[in-house]
Amino acid sequence: MTPYRLPYPVPGVIWASLPIPALLIGPDMRVFEVNPAGEIFLNVSSKSLMGQPAFDRLAIDAPIEEAFARARANQSPIFINDVDVSTGERAPIQCNIQIAPMHDNSDYIMLLIAPRDIADRLGRSMSVKSAAKSAIGMAEMLAHEIKNPLAGISGAAQLISMNANAEDRELTDLIVEETRRIVKLLDQVEQFGNLRKPDRRAVNIHDALDRARKSALVGFAAHMTIVEDYDPSLPPTFADPDQLMQVFLNLIKNAAEACRTTGSTIRLRTYYDLSLRLRRKNGGPSVLPLNIEIIDDGPGLPPEIATDIFEPFVSGRENGTGLGLALVSKIISDHEGWVQVDSVPGRTVFRVSLPVAPKKMEAD
Ligand SMILES: Nc1ncnc2c1ncn2[C@@H]1O[C@H](COP(=O)(O)OP(=O)(O)OP(=O)(O)O)[C@@H](O)[C@H]1O
Ligand SMILES: [Mg+2]
Repeated sequence: MTPYRLPYPVPGVIWASLPIPALLIGPDMRVFEVNPAGEIFLNVSSKSLMGQPAFDRLAIDAPIEEAFARARANQSPIFINDVDVSTGERAPIQCNIQIAPMHDNSDYIMLLIAPRDIADRLGRSMSVKSAAKSAIGMAEMLAHEIKNPLAGISGAAQLISMNANAEDRELTDLIVEETRRIVKLLDQVEQFGNLRKPDRRAVNIHDALDRARKSALVGFAAHMTIVEDYDPSLPPTFADPDQLMQVFLNLIKNAAEACRTTGSTIRLRTYYDLSLRLRRKNGGPSVLPLNIEIIDDGPGLPPEIATDIFEPFVSGRENGTGLGLALVSKIISDHEGWVQVDSVPGRTVFRVSLPVAPKKMEAD
């Protein structure tokens, strides 16, 4: 019988295929090895990381040195869940950490960092989509039903006002004014439901960003500074230019509304990054390398709604309808893209990731 054996050297292949960032750390806390997922996570090549102190680049919000010492002493792994991990200038990401001493020499430790980010949000995004669909379907139906009796109420109030004295007329005017406000809100809801299918073509992301920036600066973002930090070599994306501009406008508007104080800054950043891949229900993986970040230095998401902001009708503002981000989420998912948020007080980042336009389109 032939031996039951894999036809390649196992450790190397496993190391390279491990889908979560992994580092091998020596007794002096320097990096011995980093796998490809780790290189992407830390945004450095393994060559430049090798031999460097591990926690120069990687900040883990937990007593990590103590955990290492314990893992070494007990020769057993340690798991730390839900810790913030930051690398370089990126906002912290929640991760689950595993610290495992090597089998044959516990001076050497394997550090596995599993970001909760993507897994959590994949799940969340699915539920957002279906929740949005049913909430909006319901709201649309209601909107339609409520508008008729509202017209009746408003008409009756106008009739009463004809024979009313000044004092009563104030009240009938209030009825008319408030019904008008409700109709406006209902129109918005109906419009949301009617959003047309995107008319997609090759689009320069910076053109759409610029249109949104200019329109913001003459209106709601007049009190802000908007800084551009673009990668000019970004290839075109495949999008409906008007809907894309609507997405950016909504995100800039939210940032401007969150930053009440003058002197606040919104940074628009674009960059190319191949690491975000989504596996679609109907096909293979899709790569979303075009990244647009809208970064503000405001107070951050209100914690009580932070996990629900993409749901329709969730708002942390006095007069907000809570449809802005639901619309962003709908448009981006119609474009097979991805939107996510990282927020800590002083730094909120909305990141939109989009596909590259098909080659043929670029030439058109
Ligand atoms: N950049 C940000 N900083 C802090 N909080 C934000 C930011 N963006 C969104 N939010 C919070 O998320 C909530 C939902 O945003 P969304 O755009 O969906 O609705 P809205 O702005 O309240 O209303 P609408 O956009 O329909 O006028 C906001 O009310 C706000 O509390
Ligand atoms: Mg908004």
